[in-house]
Amino acid sequence: MSVKESILEIFNKNRGESFSGQYLAKTLNVSRNAVWKAVNELKKDGYRFNSSRENGYCLLPDNDVLTRKGIFQYIKNKDFFDIEVFDVVSSTNKIARQKASDGAREGSVYIASEQSEGRGRMGRSFFSPQGTGIYLSIVLRPKISVEDTPLITTAAAAAVACAVDFVSGNVSKIKWVNDIFLFDKKVCGILTEAATAVEEGRLDYAVLGIGVNVYAPDNGFPSEIENIAGSIFNTQKCNMKNILAAKILDNFFEYYKNIESRSFVDCYKEKQLAAGKDIIVISGDKKYNAKCIGINDDCNLIAERENGEKVILTSGEISIRIK
Ligand code: BTN
Repeated sequence: MSVKESILEIFNKNRGESFSGQYLAKTLNVSRNAVWKAVNELKKDGYRFNSSRENGYCLLPDNDVLTRKGIFQYIKNKDFFDIEVFDVVSSTNKIARQKASDGAREGSVYIASEQSEGRGRMGRSFFSPQGTGIYLSIVLRPKISVEDTPLITTAAAAAVACAVDFVSGNVSKIKWVNDIFLFDKKVCGILTEAATAVEEGRLDYAVLGIGVNVYAPDNGFPSEIENIAGSIFNTQKCNMKNILAAKILDNFFEYYKNIESRSFVDCYKEKQLAAGKDIIVISGDKKYNAKCIGINDDCNLIAERENGEKVILTSGEISIRIK
């Protein structure tokens, strides 16, 4: 165990207690400088300490740092998931795609505390600042037809929405296709990227990317998204990111293991933000007004245009019209 891990273990076993640098150095048989360096590394990882000359260091009770060990403490499906946690990466989807094409097994998960080039749908970027969110990608090798690939995204949307409800005690909604909203603000986006084995006409692998805004960023969301983006919590909660990541992965696995049975569809339908509402359909470079009639069993959106024509949307984007 490294000095850093040993120090963390001492603080975790003695919640709320303060320890001097001298005591920690003596207990771990290392120099005080090594203790000071390790505490600084922990602070860089996001752990928060009170430190004073008289009392030494005290780990604050509301620490919330994503770690592999922390997630495994809460996850049920320990055998399916193989988790790697990073501090900063370009994009977890980019890493997962690379790892998948190098042969990473199904259930490999790459999670980061920050992304410098987070990707969103439709070639957009996904704002992924340090420490306030969960940015994760899962490698999947489903034995489903290419046409059924969108079920991965919709199952994930239902899984995340239920996980958000579980940790927040509130009721989240899904804005078709796959945005999770809480109190009318987007708190999660999902991007699935797939690679097909062209000659065999089947899916080689899919990478499911999920980005959750757990807390609001210190300086707020950038102006371009400040009216849309929101976070699940206003104040830091102890171990919340590990609990939420574990819940998202477990919920998703429950739906995914038998994805063709579509067991998630009832939940997906029930949580639709646009159900019965007037919407604007954005399909490629076309936009038109319609009313959302509902969602079918393939998670397609059924809309009625102003001329009475019924349309079934398999992909695209909607926005809700405010009267
Ligand atoms: C969207 O709302 O447009 C989809 C956003 C998807 C963001 C996640 S964060 C983890 C994974 N890595 C990425 O670069 N994107 C996805």
